[in-house]
Amino acid sequence: MPFPPFTYRNRNLFVEEVDLEEIARSAGTPVYVYSATAIRERYRRYDDAFDETPHEVFYAVKANSNLSVLRLLASEGAGFDIVSGGELYRVMRAGGPAEKVVFSGVGKTREEVEYALSTGIHSFNCESEAELALIDSIASRMGKTARIAMRVNPHVDAQTHPYISTGLRDHKFGIDIAAVEAVYARAAQFSHIAAEGVSCHIGSQLLDTAPLKEALDAVLELVERLRANGVPIRHLDLGGGLGVPYKPEQEEPDVTAHIQAVCERCAGHDLKLMMEPGRSIVGPAGVLLSRVLYRKSTDTKEFVVVDAAMNDLIRPALYQAYHEIVPLRQHMPGTVTADVVGPVCETGDFFARDREMANVLPGDFVALCTAGAYGFVQASNYNSRPRPAEVLVEGASWKFIRTRETSEDLIRGE
Ligand code: LLP
Repeated sequence: MPFPPFTYRNRNLFVEEVDLEEIARSAGTPVYVYSATAIRERYRRYDDAFDETPHEVFYAVKANSNLSVLRLLASEGAGFDIVSGGELYRVMRAGGPAEKVVFSGVGKTREEVEYALSTGIHSFNCESEAELALIDSIASRMGKTARIAMRVNPHVDAQTHPYISTGLRDHKFGIDIAAVEAVYARAAQFSHIAAEGVSCHIGSQLLDTAPLKEALDAVLELVERLRANGVPIRHLDLGGGLGVPYKPEQEEPDVTAHIQAVCERCAGHDLKLMMEPGRSIVGPAGVLLSRVLYRKSTDTKEFVVVDAAMNDLIRPALYQAYHEIVPLRQHMPGTVTADVVGPVCETGDFFARDREMANVLPGDFVALCTAGAYGFVQASNYNSRPRPAEVLVEGASWKFIRTRETSEDLIRGE
C-alpha cells in the first residue's frame, strides 16, 4: 500500500489532485515526484511542536537539496543544516537567510569555512580541536567571530542501520563526551571563537525515540557542567529528525509528542533548542516513478525489470533499504512474488527481492514509495544513465523542478 499523501482514487494513484500516471506519461520515467503540501505540513509539524520554547528548525539539506524544495521551506521560515560549500551555495541561491544556517560535518575545508564566514552563517557544529583552530585562524583573518557548538559523541546506540548510526565510540563523528570539556576550555582561548552551543546527532532513521532521550539526558548534564565552569552555553542542537515508515507495518513516530517531551525535559535549562530534520520532512512526500520494461522468469525466480536503477535510487543497494512498490493503476488482479530490478549491470541493482507485489506487466508504471529523502541527492550517472527529472505537485498542478539530464549533460566537462 502507498503511504499518504499518495492515495488511490478509483484504483489510480494520486498525489494531491494529480493522477501520477499523467506525470509518468508526460514527464517520462524514471521521475521523482514530490508533494509541496506534504513537505510544508511536515515541516510545520516540527516548527509548531516547539510552541513557546525558543527554537529553530534547520532543514537538513542533504536529504533533498533541490532549489525549489529549499525555496518552499525557506518561505515557511526554515533554517538550513548544511554539510558542504555546495549545499551553502544552494541555500544562498534559494534565498535562504545565511543567519539561519548551521554548518555540520567532520571535514570542512579552508575554502568552505571562509565561504561560510563570509555569508554570516548562524554557527558551525565543530567536530575536532583541529577544526576549531582552523575556524579561529580564518575568522581572525577575516575580522569575524565564529559562533560554534561542539558536536559531542555521547556513546549511545541509535539502533539503526550501521551506515547511518553516528553516536558510538568507534564512529568518526563528534568529540567524546568525556573529552569535550577540555575542548571547550581550549575554545575559550581562541579569540575569534564564541563557543555558545552543544550539538549532538546519534543517527538517522530512528523509529524508537528512547536512544534520543538517553543522549539528551547526557547532553543536558554536560551543558550544566560547562556552565558551572563558566562556558556560556546558549543553544542545544539536537541533530536530525525522527525516522519514517518504509514498510506498511511500521508506524510513524509521533514528532509532536517527541518534541513536546524534549521541551519538557529541557524546561528550566534556558536553552534555545535547535533541530536538523531532513528525512521526515521530505521522505514520505516523494516517490520515484518507473515503468516496467520486461517480465522475465527463471527456474527459481520471477523478475520485474523496471527503467529505474540503483543509480537513480541507491538506498536498497547501499543500506538494504525497503521501499514499498505499488502500481499506478490497480488494474491487474492477483499478485506476483518477484525481484524488482533495474537495467544497471550489477547484481546489486535491485529494488526488492522475493517481494509479493501487484502483478505488474510491461508498460505499467510503478511508484517506489518514500523516496523524497536521500533519493535524487544520491543519484549518479553510473552506466552513463542521465539522472531523472524531478517534479513538484501542488494542488491540481505540477511542474518540473529539474529537467531530465541529456546525453550532452553526461559528457559535460570531459
Ligand atoms: N544532522 C546531521 C549532523 C546529520 O548527519 C544528518 C543525517 C541529519 C541532521 C539529518 O538526519 P535525518 O533527519 O534525515 O534523519 N543516506 C542515508 C541517510 C544519511 C543520513 C546522514 N545524516 C539514507 O538514505 O538513509
